[in-house]
Amino acid sequence: MTHIHLQTHTSLNLTKRLRRLRQSEPMRALVRETRLSPDMFVLPLFVCEGEAVRREIASMPGVFNLSVDEAVKEVAAAKGDGINSVLLFGLPDHKDDIGSSAYDPEAPVQCAVRTIKRAVPGTLVMTDVCLCEYTDHGHCGIVIDNEIANDPTVDQLVRAAVSHAAAGADIVAPSDMMDGRVGAIRRALDERGFEHVAIMSYAAKYWSAFYGPFREAANSAPRFGDRRSHQMDPANAAEALREVEQDLAEGADIVMVKPALLYLDVITRVKESFGYPTAAYHVSGEYAMLKAAARNGWIDEPRAMVETLTAIRRAGADVIVTYYARDIARAIA
Ligand code: PBG
Repeated sequence: MTHIHLQTHTSLNLTKRLRRLRQSEPMRALVRETRLSPDMFVLPLFVCEGEAVRREIASMPGVFNLSVDEAVKEVAAAKGDGINSVLLFGLPDHKDDIGSSAYDPEAPVQCAVRTIKRAVPGTLVMTDVCLCEYTDHGHCGIVIDNEIANDPTVDQLVRAAVSHAAAGADIVAPSDMMDGRVGAIRRALDERGFEHVAIMSYAAKYWSAFYGPFREAANSAPRFGDRRSHQMDPANAAEALREVEQDLAEGADIVMVKPALLYLDVITRVKESFGYPTAAYHVSGEYAMLKAAARNGWIDEPRAMVETLTAIRRAGADVIVTYYARDIARAIA
């Protein structure tokens, strides 16, 4: 039997007691440094062909492949939750070696943009600009002699971005990591009267293992090779600043770091170095990990979600793209 001898109060003469501000929820809320608001969240949507299609992605519970009609319903429901921004990815039936569906005015993304802008006014529509969902080999660009050819790919990305703008997109978001694509897209948009369309560039996009579930969702896994020749080495942070600097010089309005949670240091450095609107993409694998652990009863999902998204915001992100957008909006309402 141990006897605990309590010290007298007077012997601990503290001038600061940091626990004072943690004693009740109103007290904690009063001094909370990081606040989340529904305005900062962007909901990604995977738009496929057909009608009345709502197919759940096995590795991403709560995320679906949606035909245009279903995507519109999802956008309206998200609006009900307080989410007004969506990022569209396309899943065309037709794929070829040049990714021509990326700029087909009748492809899922272009149709979805037009329909959403009409059916759910006030929605901010962003579109992902890349070729990986549109090429039969699953690469982000034109493949010549087993290499992703930078400049011919940029030509195709420009066509895709212009067709999204023509459909009514507010923001185009190139995610391909080719050199010079932001400047080329900016020039092409301006020449065609789309100078009001903003560019959110995936400026520091890493070669990450955490895009796995997305590739199931977008049916965009490369048939051979990988994306290391254009996506960034996860070991590099100074290089991320060069990527961001270049995209800003070429006319990017918002710069993105991707993935988010594994690159919080990069988010902070980008925000502190440039002071531009900075986005972070909480990617499919980061979402899937939480979902999987929650399904096993290993973590408290609502708390883990808030903690995760708070961390991304605390690191400096102004805009957060996340599959949890609707859930977090409801949670903080
Ligand atoms: C490319 C693109 C990818 C993601 C967004 N845009 C996949 C890739 O680079 O392989 C990943 C998003 C996620 O994992 O949630 N169009």
